[in-house]
Amino acid sequence: MTTALYPIAILISGNGSNLQAIIDAISAKKTSAQIVVVISDQANAYGLERAKKAGIPTKVISQQDFPNHNQFDTELQNCLDQYQPKLIVLAGFMRILGPEFVQHFHGKVINIHPSLLPKFPGLKTHQRAIDEGETEHGVTIHFVTEDLDNGPIIAQAKLAIAPEDTAETLQQKIHQLEHQLYPEIINLFAEDKIK
Ligand code: GRF
Repeated sequence: MTTALYPIAILISGNGSNLQAIIDAISAKKTSAQIVVVISDQANAYGLERAKKAGIPTKVISQQDFPNHNQFDTELQNCLDQYQPKLIVLAGFMRILGPEFVQHFHGKVINIHPSLLPKFPGLKTHQRAIDEGETEHGVTIHFVTEDLDNGPIIAQAKLAIAPEDTAETLQQKIHQLEHQLYPEIINLFAEDKIK
């Protein structure tokens, strides 16, 4: 592990269990990443409580406070620029980021998606995997580009779908994979092993 701290920002919209996994990895000194800010577009996101409990600065930037998506993106960009993160980690952030934002932070924004992309971009991935008769399902970490859920893939992890699996049981299993993989990949960025 490198000794210099590696500043990251985390963007959430909800529960923040992936945020918690990253907080826990940092507490356990498994990575030199340091969360400099957690930003949510939802004021009631439980992840904000997780961040506050860990002593991490939080911000709420709500789409509804801006007349259009561009101005929301600009506010988000200005806020992030103040914190100078080397990596922007989307962890259940339910907003699509516009082209200017993506270009401004080119190569610095990553997302975790609950499917084996390019299969099942978008929502309801677990039910769709079951409905399509897939035998495997998984999680993808990828760079964020202007194409939704279609940026270069950094890492994937997969599991077998059991005959008795439902969307709920699959979601739980996928979350466990996510909680292991996301901190590991963030640590590879912190150690300068991913460009
Ligand atoms: C995760 O399943 C992630 O793959 C998707 O949104 C979910 C966020 O869960 N992008 P949580 O808020 O981290 O618990």
